[in-house]
Amino acid sequence: MTHVQSGPTCTQILAWFGADVIKIERPGEGDATRSQLRDIPDVDSLYFTMLNSNKRSVTLNPKTDAGARIFTRLIEECDVLVENYAPGAIDRMGFPWEKIQQINPRMIYASVKGFGPGPYEDCKVYENVAQCTGGAASTTGEVDSLPLVTGAQIGDSGTGMHLVAGILAALFHREKSGRGQRVTCAMQDAVLNLCRVKLRDQQRLARGPLMEYPQFLNGGFSHAVPRAGNASGGGHPGSVVRCKGWETDPDAYIYVIAQAGAFPALARVIGHEDWLNDPEFNTPEARLHKLDYVFSEIEKWTTTMDKMDVMATLNPLNVPNGPILSMKELAEEPALRETGTVVEVEHPERGKYLTVGNPIKLSDSPAEVRRSPLLGEHTDEVLRDVLGLDDKEIHAARREGAI
Ligand code: COA
Repeated sequence: MTHVQSGPTCTQILAWFGADVIKIERPGEGDATRSQLRDIPDVDSLYFTMLNSNKRSVTLNPKTDAGARIFTRLIEECDVLVENYAPGAIDRMGFPWEKIQQINPRMIYASVKGFGPGPYEDCKVYENVAQCTGGAASTTGEVDSLPLVTGAQIGDSGTGMHLVAGILAALFHREKSGRGQRVTCAMQDAVLNLCRVKLRDQQRLARGPLMEYPQFLNGGFSHAVPRAGNASGGGHPGSVVRCKGWETDPDAYIYVIAQAGAFPALARVIGHEDWLNDPEFNTPEARLHKLDYVFSEIEKWTTTMDKMDVMATLNPLNVPNGPILSMKELAEEPALRETGTVVEVEHPERGKYLTVGNPIKLSDSPAEVRRSPLLGEHTDEVLRDVLGLDDKEIHAARREGAI
């Protein structure tokens, strides 16, 4: 019972782990993302196809009599029910947790909601709302500029991944106890969990200035953890610097971390051997006050080279770095194709499309990525094979609009 992104991310991972995921969709309409941001008219969007691989689609309206009976049978037969509808939506369908538990005490019932119990529990929430309310936006962005949301879908996909962990733990618990349980993940909580280091910094701030933040040198701190641009969060100074071609290529940049242990090699390679014996530069504490200058000198060197050549030069020197890779570069990267992280899939209506495969690799259980299902493609098959309904019952349910 998942839609949009957070729930489908979770069940897609479970499907890649081998679960038979039956996606229940509203008859006639299906998951709203099927038609959102379409790139080809009347064909399931990439939004849908990239989040619903390896699933079977069943159309079912549990709000009809026949639909409620079929939904009850599904609860009896299945192991896990995952949903991410608005708060209370499944209850309003007539299936509160108490009833689900009664129907199948082994059922694991997992939900994503925007907020946990409290003043906001009834709110509907999308990705950017979660990023704003979970601490990501207040700590992301340029110094002295607007709060920013990130391109990584930490609210939706991030919460979906958290939910996977909860479901797997509950399945393991059920193996021991015989009982199912309720698993819930709030998007605000998941984002805050991913922003854990910023809550660390909030507490450090109470004891003194945060030396690795740009505000340490430029303007000071207020009462809360500020936005720190691209400053490295790990305690080692880092920065995005330009590479050759930056004037025309918006991704000709590389992130360089001036980690203390590798600093001598970094200084040498950029032609600043002089820093090694200069007390103004040869300790992290001394450099802290000159980071803008240090990175501008690093940049003088990086702008002479292609970002991938900078990477190839810095890696053997143990200088941590990361070229800014565009989505185009990632889509075309042979190593990612090789590992199945980027996969090309054939779809009967849209033809070939690219998707991100399972990022979690299991040595004995490799995931084969299969295309997303068409709306209701497996309704008859699931009702017949999983629930044991005969043609007459299926026909009657269809006539009632239940499927
Ligand atoms: N048959 C009949 N009705 C169905 C159905 C089905 N198979 N599946 C869903 N519906 C109904 C629901 O029962 C609900 O009806 P109700 O309002 O009468 O109870 C209705 O569809 C709309 O569901 P809702 O969740 O309110 O959709 P929305 O488009 O208004 O809101 C979200 C979308 C994402 C904001 C909301 O679902 C939400 O907050 N979800 C939890 C947080 C979340 O996952 N957010 C991130 C999404 S990536």
